[in-house]
Amino acid sequence: MEICIALTSALGCNVQDPEEWPLIAPLPSYGRGRERLGPRHISLIHGEGLNDVVITGDNGTIDGQGRIWWDLWWNRTLNHTRGHLIELVNSTNIMISNITLRNSPFWTVHPVYCRNVVIRNLTVLAPLNAPNTDGIDPDSSSEVCIEDCYIESGDDLVAIKSGWDQYGISVGKPSSNIIIQRVSGTTPTCSGVGLGSEMSGGISNVIVRDLHIWNSAQAVRIKSDVGRGGYITNITIENISMEKVKVPIRFSRGADDHSDDRYDRSALPRISDVRIRNVVGVDLQRAPILEAVHGAVYEGICFRNVSLRVIRRQDRWQCESVYGEAHDVFPAPCEEFRRNGSSWCGHS
Ligand SMILES: *[C@@H]1O[C@H](CO)[C@@H](O)[C@H](O)[C@H]1NC(C)=O
Ligand SMILES: *[C@@H]1O[C@H](CO)[C@@H](O)[C@H](O)[C@H]1NC(C)=O
Ligand SMILES: *[C@@H]1O[C@H](CO)[C@@H](O)[C@H](O)[C@H]1NC(C)=O
Ligand SMILES: *[C@@H]1O[C@H](CO)[C@@H](O)[C@H](O)[C@H]1NC(C)=O
Ligand SMILES: *[C@@H]1O[C@H](CO)[C@@H](O)[C@H](O)[C@H]1NC(C)=O
Ligand SMILES: *[C@@H]1O[C@H](CO)[C@@H](O)[C@H](O)[C@H]1NC(C)=O
Ligand SMILES: *[C@@H]1O[C@H](CO)[C@@H](O)[C@H](O)[C@H]1NC(C)=O
Ligand SMILES: *[C@@H]1O[C@H](CO)[C@@H](O)[C@H](O)[C@H]1NC(C)=O
Repeated sequence: MEICIALTSALGCNVQDPEEWPLIAPLPSYGRGRERLGPRHISLIHGEGLNDVVITGDNGTIDGQGRIWWDLWWNRTLNHTRGHLIELVNSTNIMISNITLRNSPFWTVHPVYCRNVVIRNLTVLAPLNAPNTDGIDPDSSSEVCIEDCYIESGDDLVAIKSGWDQYGISVGKPSSNIIIQRVSGTTPTCSGVGLGSEMSGGISNVIVRDLHIWNSAQAVRIKSDVGRGGYITNITIENISMEKVKVPIRFSRGADDHSDDRYDRSALPRISDVRIRNVVGVDLQRAPILEAVHGAVYEGICFRNVSLRVIRRQDRWQCESVYGEAHDVFPAPCEEFRRNGSSWCGHS
């Protein structure tokens, strides 16, 4: 087995001086850096075109020392998109396990255009206000297993992505066959598990289960935007427990966040076949908020055995252009989910 860890610091880069930190080309499915136009800073640990990669340690810690980068972002003096703590591009057979990753400058672990990825028993820590410090972001990748991870950070704990607007549509690399299980943690401003908002290459065949989320803005969020195109389909979300979450389950429209102004306004996301079951939440601020991107209709959304204790008892589900069925759901779902009797939203 080949084991490769390419440490950028071995190139003599000085972490004290962001301007000296090398730049690389943007990903084709983003067309530019995620935060700034043009090239982006390379990741602390960066690999490309690798096979058989193991990154592990007996709960050892890699500290990304991200503060200097968060400061540039807060000060609005960041010239190029921040790098990740670990990014693997176009690689296969990856195992990342038994380590603690702290203080990533940006998204912490970013496998993109990868296949056969196992991420197991990871602890990811960042200050709860550190900007965009997502935990694990599988992006245009398939056959991915993320399990037994504890994550606390300033952005989504796990976010599945697949490229941005017209660039993601033309590259057309989906994220599929993904299992996320036994993940726990907290993110006061974002989600436990997010799908999107960059989902232009499509996301399918995803199982999210045995999630425990507390003190967070959302437990599960599906997020898209006008211009994304793509699809999110065949998603199973089950056995989710949560406490002190603002909005337990949210489908949101996105914030008109585009790669550039050449995106196709008629490229709407297609979202269907999402099954959410066995969910328990207490001390929640709101009932679910499910809103389709303007002009799109989401169908085939199934809720079963969902119990959400909302602090303001009169709070109701809020639905817009999202349809499906709900069985054994508290509080009562919106009209859009009161059709009944068919079997597709069944047990199994
Ligand atoms: C950003 O660019 C400006 C203008 O070129 C330069 O003065 C500044 O040092 C750069 N800052 C960083 C962090 O690269
Ligand atoms: C991906 O990596 C393989 C080597 O594993 C290489 O042959 C191929 O050209 C790379 N593809 C891209 C798009 O970089
Ligand atoms: C996770 O990693 C820690 C530290 O390396 C180890 O003690 C523990 O046994 C591991 N757990 C699993 C399930 O692998
Ligand atoms: C691993 O390290 C993290 C942070 O350093 C610590 O919180 C956690 O308890 C450790 N886990 C194990 C199994 O030693
Ligand atoms: C913003 O930049 C100034 C001057 O470069 C620096 O002294 C300050 O610490 C920075 N503040 C933050 C919040 O990053
Ligand atoms: C992770 O830790 C567990 C428990 O110590 C051990 O069984 C497993 O082999 C380790 N995995 C790796 C890849 O080191
Ligand atoms: C849906 O996803 C599941 C699990 O990821 C997979 O086993 C199943 O084959 C998929 N169904 C279709 C119709 O692709
Ligand atoms: C549900 O998930 C929790 C972790 O949040 C786990 O402890 C429990 O065993 C799971 N229940 C089932 C029935 O899988």
